[in-house]
Amino acid sequence: MIVITTPTGQVGQQVLERVLDSGAAARVIARDPARLPAHVHARAEVVQGSHGDADVITKALAGADRLFWLVPPPGFNSADGSERYYLDFTRPAADAIRGRGVQVVGVSTLGHGYQGSAGLLSAALAMDKLIEGTGTAYRALALPFFMENLLRQVQPIREQGTFSMANAAGRTLPAVATRDVAAAAAALLLGATWRGQASVPVASPDNLAPDDMAGVISDTLGRTVRYRQIPVADSEAAMRQRGASPAMARDFAGMVEAQNNGIYDAEPRDPHRAGGTSFRQWCLDTLKPAVEA
Ligand SMILES: NC(=O)c1ccc[n+]([C@@H]2O[C@H](COP(=O)([O-])OP(=O)(O)OC[C@H]3O[C@@H](n4cnc5c(N)ncnc54)[C@H](OP(=O)(O)O)[C@@H]3O)[C@@H](O)[C@H]2O)c1
Repeated sequence: MIVITTPTGQVGQQVLERVLDSGAAARVIARDPARLPAHVHARAEVVQGSHGDADVITKALAGADRLFWLVPPPGFNSADGSERYYLDFTRPAADAIRGRGVQVVGVSTLGHGYQGSAGLLSAALAMDKLIEGTGTAYRALALPFFMENLLRQVQPIREQGTFSMANAAGRTLPAVATRDVAAAAAALLLGATWRGQASVPVASPDNLAPDDMAGVISDTLGRTVRYRQIPVADSEAAMRQRGASPAMARDFAGMVEAQNNGIYDAEPRDPHRAGGTSFRQWCLDTLKPAVEA
């Protein structure tokens, strides 16, 4: 039995579809089962509740041998910051997993081995340590920037021909399409011959800086789109203005500083991994239709 968290989320949903397509027995944990499509109700067991809740995760793991684990993105207004949030959310699962022989595939960050604080990314690395501390078999999907983050910038791309972030314009920003994350997760969940603990980097075969991404976006849309780099301090202040807690604004800024400082290069990976979605392909398949909709 494979337990899948966040079946309504962008990654979890795609993992679930792959597991269902394989015919393996699946159980999902959903806060609101009414949000799940009919074919999921027909083909998977559903446990209602949050996977951050001890009773819910314990019930969901009964008789299960594999778990897809994803901590929902933290809210902007969390006063305690992201590390506390990731650890508090994961602790009930860690307690429930201990001694059960469950193989866990978790969504984490690229950058294992980075020395220094990295805000939100440090929180994901701390989560890995918590899960590893249970002694369970674990694969941490080591993921860089999701290409889908750019879907939040469809409007400025369409209306102003720009997209903006605090990432350094000329520094490579490894990225991954979430369909490749789901494919890697499903392969690990379904081919569970692995043991022990390791991180599994998954990144696109190209290795572009934001300025290069702007060039690819321009090519695929057939019009000029420019990258606008915002100072990290300005993006932190803008988050505060939008209601983020000081701790969360700092954690987001700390993440970007670490990205600009090369955190993703701290963990070795194969940049030519066969089969990964290139940024150009993702733009053609996903960004272009969204901009032109
Ligand atoms: N964005 C990036 O560049 C990036 C890079 C590397 C790693 N990551 C990691 O990827 C993860 C985000 O994945 P995603 O994009 O698939 O997220 P997402 O699309 O925002 O989905 C969030 C999911 O969490 C569920 N959820 C929200 N709050 C919950 C709660 N309190 N209890 C239980 N479930 C809850 C939502 O379900 P309902 O609302 O339907 O209940 C939904 O299924 C994060 O852990 C992040 O650190 C992101």
